[in-house]
Amino acid sequence: MISSLALLLLQGASTLPQPHWPSTFVADYVSDDKHTTGYYASDTSPGVGASRITFEDGSGDHLCSYYHTKTPCEQLTTGGFRYLYFPNLPDCCKCCTYATGSYLCGGPVGPRWMSNATGNLIYEGKEVILGRACHKWGIQGIFPTHMNYYFQDVETGLPCGLDGYNYLRTPDEPADDQYLFKVGSVNLTVPHSTFDVPQLCKAARYCGGKVCAAGPDVRQFV
Ligand SMILES: *[C@@H]1O[C@H](CO)[C@@H](O)[C@H](O)[C@H]1NC(C)=O
Ligand SMILES: *[C@@H]1O[C@H](CO)[C@@H](O)[C@H](O)[C@H]1NC(C)=O
Repeated sequence: MISSLALLLLQGASTLPQPHWPSTFVADYVSDDKHTTGYYASDTSPGVGASRITFEDGSGDHLCSYYHTKTPCEQLTTGGFRYLYFPNLPDCCKCCTYATGSYLCGGPVGPRWMSNATGNLIYEGKEVILGRACHKWGIQGIFPTHMNYYFQDVETGLPCGLDGYNYLRTPDEPADDQYLFKVGSVNLTVPHSTFDVPQLCKAARYCGGKVCAAGPDVRQFV
């Protein structure tokens, strides 16, 4: 009895779709939760470790909106820092550093996110994202009662999108880190220049305030 049950469970587990996070990709997204569009670029290959998320309007983003609203914003994470860049103002500041590892900034999201190392990755079936069928996984993040989600195209195996629980200032103002990738926009070749640090950002101040660090290792994240 027990051994046949175990075998059944084993067979069940082996047929579960497995998530694959490409080490390098760029995709155009729409975000209902942040009420904006932009692109999401990520390169987590060894020796790079960078990401750039652009927001046509950063007003719906937890970090961008704290500093400027109703203007484009970019979150550039590279070389140990996460910068907030506002190309039209122009303005740039360092939101936090992850070089020293003692500040809760987090580097770019990478394959480790999907590795199920902590056993908290749950397959949740299929969901239609912008018109195509996608597998859905739930991953527990820093808010224990709220899941983060990763979606992957059933047919192509490419990412369909991400949805990380977040809010603007209070939980009454939902503003998930939701990026739904447009069909056909995922490209696995990302030029290195995508992650170039703008001149304005190179000697930029720390952003400070309530959502970013005021200096290296100043832990103010809430
Ligand atoms: C992740 O690991 C847990 C615990 O081992 C397991 O129950 C779960 O099915 C795994 N998730 C996936 C998607 O394989
Ligand atoms: C993917 O990006 C590369 C580099 O920017 C570009 O040369 C190529 O044409 C793109 N491929 C597609 C299918 O858009």
